[in-house]
Amino acid sequence: MAGPELIRDTRAWQAYCREARRRGGRVALVPTMGFLHQGHLSLMREARRLADAAPPAAGPRLALASIFVNPAQFGPREDLARYPRDLDGDLAKCASAGIDAVLAPEPADVYRPDHQSWVEVGSVAEGLCGASRPGHFRGVATVVLKLLHLSLPDVALFGEKDWQQLQVVRTMVRDLDLDVEIRGMPIVREPDGLALSSRNAYLSPEERSRALALSRALFGARDRAARGERDAGALRAEARRVLDAAGLRVDYVEIVHPETLRPVERAEPGSRMLVAAFAGATRLIDNLALP
Ligand code: PAJ
Repeated sequence: MAGPELIRDTRAWQAYCREARRRGGRVALVPTMGFLHQGHLSLMREARRLADAAPPAAGPRLALASIFVNPAQFGPREDLARYPRDLDGDLAKCASAGIDAVLAPEPADVYRPDHQSWVEVGSVAEGLCGASRPGHFRGVATVVLKLLHLSLPDVALFGEKDWQQLQVVRTMVRDLDLDVEIRGMPIVREPDGLALSSRNAYLSPEERSRALALSRALFGARDRAARGERDAGALRAEARRVLDAAGLRVDYVEIVHPETLRPVERAEPGSRMLVAAFAGATRLIDNLALP
């Protein structure tokens, strides 16, 4: 199987994408930090499908991905240096998902020495992971804006696994009038419920089994809500008990409006429960819509 075209230089990538756009093609983009798993690949397969759905007369139909461990979204005490990387393996996976070209730039190319412009998204980026990881969403929004500008996609795909990130990106696209459709994709889980994440590679077997408490807490809350429990405080307290009992260190357990991410007191259909907790040194997140 021929692999995707690998482009390391952002200017070369920009020229490649501009040409596709000029020829009237359809471009779908999947931004990632690499160390790809089936969650990423579900986005890529959907990108392939969306690109191919272009009308027959149009130009090239491109399913594109980026692989860039973005330093700007890591805090000084976070895992930037040890974030898992496997470019060769990733390229083979991109090929299997039908990706045409991959941008894998160097940090010094993305953030040139005098870089001084940043994207700040407001309240939607402030709570939850934004509170625990100061500057994280500023780094995410900035790199996503850069990737969108470099690639000029018709559609960009993001996973619901990072629910707050998805809302931050949607808010930025709306506020800054970006001409791109943002497509959210369902969370891909292991058969036992654990949400796939590149950071799962950090977990010891023992931590991995404790990490199952995140999805267990969410599914438990969903079942209680389905049986009629609407009180967000009660649902949160029970979820916290599940996480505590597994020996995880809870960062947050919240029930929020799915778009504004403001906490709610009563769970409505569509309200979203979001959890973040540490298994050992590894911070994990997960979320679920309540019925
Ligand atoms: P990364 O963690 O590599 O994730 C890339 C994309 O894959 C994100 O949109 C994420 O939500 C999605 N994803 C991850 N795990 C998933 C799962 N189990 N099911 C479905 N989708 C999943 O998120 C980032 O990178 C970065 O912040 C990025 C957007 C690339 C900006 O640097």
